[in-house]
Amino acid sequence: METAEADVETVVDELTLEEKIQLVHGAVDPDGTATGYLPGVDRLGIPELRLADGPLGVRVNGAPATLFPASIALAATFDPNLAREQGAAMGREANARDQDALLGPGLNLIRVPHCGRNFEYYSEDPVLTAAFAGAAVEGIQSADVIATPKHYVANNQETHRASVNVSVSERALRECYLPGFKAAVDAGAGSVMTAYNSVNDSFMSENRPLVTDVLKGEWGFDGYVVSDWFGAVSTVESANGGLDLEMPGVTRDELWEMFDLEPPEDDDDAVFGETADVSDGMPDMTNTGNFGGPLREAVERGDVPHARLDDMVTRILRQMERIGVLGGGRAAAPPEDDGHRELAETIAARGTVLLENDGTLPLADDADVAVIGPGVEEISTGGGSSEMDALHEAPTATGIDARATGSVTVERGVPPIEKVSFFGGDNEGDDQRPDPTLDDAVSAAADADVAVVVVEDAAAEAVDRDDLTLPGGQDELVEDVTAVNDNTVVVVQSSGPVELPWRDDVSAVLESWYPGQADGDALAAVLFGDADPSGRLPVTFANEEDYPVTDDATFPGIDGEVQYDENLLVGYRYFDATEADPVYPFGYGLSYAAFEYRGAELVDERRVEVTVENVSDRAGREVVQAYVRPSNASDDRPVRELGGFEAVSIPAGETVTVDVDLDDLAFSEYDETAGWTALEGPFTIEIGRSARDVEFELTL
Ligand code: BGC
Repeated sequence: METAEADVETVVDELTLEEKIQLVHGAVDPDGTATGYLPGVDRLGIPELRLADGPLGVRVNGAPATLFPASIALAATFDPNLAREQGAAMGREANARDQDALLGPGLNLIRVPHCGRNFEYYSEDPVLTAAFAGAAVEGIQSADVIATPKHYVANNQETHRASVNVSVSERALRECYLPGFKAAVDAGAGSVMTAYNSVNDSFMSENRPLVTDVLKGEWGFDGYVVSDWFGAVSTVESANGGLDLEMPGVTRDELWEMFDLEPPEDDDDAVFGETADVSDGMPDMTNTGNFGGPLREAVERGDVPHARLDDMVTRILRQMERIGVLGGGRAAAPPEDDGHRELAETIAARGTVLLENDGTLPLADDADVAVIGPGVEEISTGGGSSEMDALHEAPTATGIDARATGSVTVERGVPPIEKVSFFGGDNEGDDQRPDPTLDDAVSAAADADVAVVVVEDAAAEAVDRDDLTLPGGQDELVEDVTAVNDNTVVVVQSSGPVELPWRDDVSAVLESWYPGQADGDALAAVLFGDADPSGRLPVTFANEEDYPVTDDATFPGIDGEVQYDENLLVGYRYFDATEADPVYPFGYGLSYAAFEYRGAELVDERRVEVTVENVSDRAGREVVQAYVRPSNASDDRPVRELGGFEAVSIPAGETVTVDVDLDDLAFSEYDETAGWTALEGPFTIEIGRSARDVEFELTL
């Protein structure tokens, strides 16, 4: 390692000022494959560096890749090992496509259910987020690819994301919003992407307290900090604040060319492709080139120290050295691997949450099924920079048709749900099929043993959802189908919480998020009982008015300022504080199997041992959860915080003992003067099946 560091130093010493500048801002990728590109310096054998979007898979023009389930679906597995495996698969696919860095994982905390990018993030809980963030980074980097956790920090909404100032206490930052990034850094992340927004009056691209002092100083991050695309708002302040690399560094038109897109005719209402009115959420794309000529001049003037520029370059080259592209040694990944397809399906099935079931699920193999919904003939995903070409596509209807032995009829019921796409272009007029009708859907449902209605929301980067209702008349579709078929199963494909007003009238409800390319295959496995829907909610589902952020000041902000007034009470913590009943609590999810908790004991101060029996006649997966309730905490301390969790497969009739490790975060508070302080006990450790379902209480 020391030799590597010395090698990097030697290279930096040999670079001219012009060459150093060339290494700290993006340029046009001559191959047109990368999302962000650095040309390298031929003279000194410094190769090109290619950065590709993530985080659901690798987006490379002309080279489809595995489209994994949305990150929120991954988190619903409560199994960070799957994040590690998915990360490794994405890393291998990035490597095989000549990409050196993956722009993910996305790990902003889910603060408001409306946020258009919640599907790219993990959870409302910092301990769960941190576990997935660390594992994803380890996975990606195991394939000699740089991980880029994003968006640092407090990018929790898309409305005015490029200009909004987030006013948040340091304590909430430390206890809620930063732990995911800290875990990513501890796992060795080679890069971190700054958010567009500003935090406490300083844009994140130039936020010295959070970038230089916390990230690089306190946490010892030695990788490079990259701006979000067109998000470097200045030259001197950004460079001196700690930003190391400006992306994309090219003009907007050059970026279109790189992405193989037609430039939009109307600047105001189209940003990428032609379908998006996302002007409220997009950065100023004329803001580019700050780390080109202007940075060189700033260094020459002495406004940015030479040493700072050297540090910027060193941080980038250090990562190139680490993945073996500088000086060689990078292991080339094999082009494609069938295992990735299976993994995408496993994650989609395990992340599916069974919200209701009166015994209708699992279905009999020979049930006659009507598959109904506006998107059942496509795979469902979110819009924005995470869009990509999937290697294999198994739409819902196709997957169910392949698995069922009874008859399968397919009806859309209502017109396609309008979605924002950055890359999909305008498909209006492409669809030659007759318009779907409710009547056709209802009669197909009436003729079938079971009606499977698949409903979806529409979420995308750069735009928040207006409300939590299902768009496009889908509630009516569910109600009309339920009226004619007593075995109606509703499958929800959403970016996060949605309101399900008919949930008590239907036979079963599954939340399958955006399941990725394996969509129909994974759903069929769950519906017919080949897989246990073992997901648990990584976010609280509640009626819209019960969430903490119902006035404009707290979301989406007034006059460019959003107040995080709920402070530490994000997600379930707020529902505990207000004693409001969520519709489905954090951590909730049913199983086809049935589990009894037989015992729980403390092994030491940070570990509990829990014994669970599968009392059913089928194998299943249980997620054992431990919540910590301090008795001597300050008044504004949440009632309970997730301390740890463990997902475990339990064969039919068997009993297993699982160890659940408890995170220090649940036992400490951040004081703005004293820093981190350990809370005094005693603590109650609640062992249970969700934030609201306690099976055992232990005292520590
Ligand atoms: C997004 C990033 C993404 C970048 C490059 C931005 O609009 O916020 O998440 O990585 O574009 O596509």
